[in-house]
Amino acid sequence: MTMNKKVFLQTFGCQMNERDSEAVEGLLLGRGYETTPALEDADLILYNTCSIRDHAEQKVFGRIGSFRKLKEKKPTLIVGIIGCMAQEHGENFFKKNPEIDLVCGPGNLSQIPDLVEAIETKRSPRLAIDRLNEEYSLEDVRHRWGSIKALVTIMKGCDHRCTYCIVPYTRGEEKSRSSENILREIKDLEVRGFKDVMLLGQNVNSYGKGLPEGIDFAGLLYKIQETAPGIPRIRFITSHPKDAHTRLFQAMRDLPGVCEHLHLPVQSGSDRILRRMKREHTAQWYLEQIDEYRQYAPEGSLTTDFIVGFPGETEEDFMETVGLAESAQFDSAYIFEYSPRPGTPALKLEDDVPPKEKRRRLQCLLAAQKAMSLKKNQRFVGKIIQVLFESPTRKDKNRYSGRTREFKRVVAPSARSVTGELLNVRISAVADETLVGEIVS
Ligand code: 5AD
Ligand code: SF4
Repeated sequence: MTMNKKVFLQTFGCQMNERDSEAVEGLLLGRGYETTPALEDADLILYNTCSIRDHAEQKVFGRIGSFRKLKEKKPTLIVGIIGCMAQEHGENFFKKNPEIDLVCGPGNLSQIPDLVEAIETKRSPRLAIDRLNEEYSLEDVRHRWGSIKALVTIMKGCDHRCTYCIVPYTRGEEKSRSSENILREIKDLEVRGFKDVMLLGQNVNSYGKGLPEGIDFAGLLYKIQETAPGIPRIRFITSHPKDAHTRLFQAMRDLPGVCEHLHLPVQSGSDRILRRMKREHTAQWYLEQIDEYRQYAPEGSLTTDFIVGFPGETEEDFMETVGLAESAQFDSAYIFEYSPRPGTPALKLEDDVPPKEKRRRLQCLLAAQKAMSLKKNQRFVGKIIQVLFESPTRKDKNRYSGRTREFKRVVAPSARSVTGELLNVRISAVADETLVGEIVS
């Protein structure tokens, strides 16, 4: 009997990468591979990488060094860099790191099993980055890491050109999957008992553009609701403010499955900086959009992303960002220091905010946001809300952790396993970003 080959697969970056990795793992399992959590046991090492900020890349570069030793011990080991960094750096990886055998971009992932086989038979490195703008190719992979929550990629790429952003170059042009295909996948998830489906795209609100069937994102949500009414929670990320329309807010109000959570990145509160970022809207316009959202979903949550220290950002610009955060009253926000990315238009602008000042602005906005998040979360104290429990907490096996429809984390004690159950919880306290309560039914 021959032993199965083992793959070690590590994922960096966003949920889209998570889903890609899950699907790639599914393809490899289909070819007889097993997974391993230990690098030393692996016959195949794959790093699914992210290019969004320099920090994300450094994490991967920092690990490549260890491959040489592993290969000395096991010469048949195959090492692959896949995902966004593969697309971005291409064959430069081979030049700098001869221990790498495979460089495969996001559009070529379905070829991985064949590429690995080709490397096995003829030991020469393979580069596969030529399918960036082709159709999504991982759609029929049913393999899933969990049984409660599922990620479903509905479109890929981005046609906006925010000046700081590398995504259009690593993920290519916008391409939507046909609704028929998406619905088939989601129906299957419903039959398998999944309770929470997160629809993924760099810009889900422009879903449908270029498809012959004449459908938009709101239209897709209606179809999903109709086709898979047994899935209690449908979510989506990410939206660009320019493309978030009234029809979407209406769908969020009218469809029982669609959760009341909108993640709408704003990046800055200064019109001058928004213009330099090429965000195509003003701060005021953004505030009007979220006002409208709140008319449709008064109890809904709203989260955002900010970039601080963009080229040319003055103290005054930054204070406008703090001001916008205060006006918008986000439930929570991801805040990033600007990181210059190769090939992006903003590279031409001088990265003139010193690192120390970027850090100070980040800390300042973070502190302001933390106080606002805490205050916002207080609104749940004393209320009974529905929680989908996902797992026991790491620290205490008699406490379970889950999410509300608004995507708030909730922890509650339970003597029996409540994993996968939708239960009502009375919230008694707020600890940082987490709500704490008791299960009532
Ligand atoms: N520097 C810092 N943050 C960035 N983001 C995207 N590009 C950059 C960059 N060059 C942030 C944005 C985006 C989130 C996914 O990452 O806030 O919404
Ligand atoms: Fe990172 Fe963007 Fe690629 Fe996701 S799409 S892995 S966030 S660079």
